[in-house]
Amino acid sequence: MTNTENSEGSEVEQTLVLIKPDGLVKSLTGNIIDKLSESELIIVGAKVVEVSKDLAETHYRDLKGQKFFDDLIKYIRGEYHTRRVLAMVYHGENAITRVRHITGATNPEEANPISLRGKYGRITTSGVFENVVHASSCPEDAKREIQLWFAPHELSKTIHGTKKETITREEVVWE
Ligand code: TYD
Repeated sequence: MTNTENSEGSEVEQTLVLIKPDGLVKSLTGNIIDKLSESELIIVGAKVVEVSKDLAETHYRDLKGQKFFDDLIKYIRGEYHTRRVLAMVYHGENAITRVRHITGATNPEEANPISLRGKYGRITTSGVFENVVHASSCPEDAKREIQLWFAPHELSKTIHGTKKETITREEVVWE
């Protein structure tokens, strides 16, 4: 039994979910979170992010070189919709598979019609899959993506190791 495995053999996992700019601009946030609640997982982190070029390219680094890469970066940064993404971390047993099942296949035309991507996604005339949500696809990606989008203090619970460091930096505070 691994340290995140329970007595029934299922893994306690965390997964990154992004409601992409098309999901926000189409006012789908409520529908998406409602549908994801069927997973019976808990949300342990959530924030609105204005996605930098660096964050977008690091998130999708494995797709660099694909013909759709530049459009994908523009899409996730909101150049076609709104410059916001809602980033969330879901936590619980088999979180990665449960969430992927609800989000559906990458290509919205091939996704189960009652999945989020099947219901709300589209392919643009220039060929970009506007599939409204991102969900991590395996434990390695989930760990990398969660650590890319969130700092440990932004999560109410984490299954990944943390350490303490003294960091001195300027921060914007309320006047
Ligand atoms: P990928 O990581 O392969 O899929 P997923 O998001 O299901 O984990 O692809 C990342 C994103 O790239 C995908 O959500 C939409 C976009 N994409 C395209 O626009 N065209 C494509 O042919 C593919 C494979 C992906």
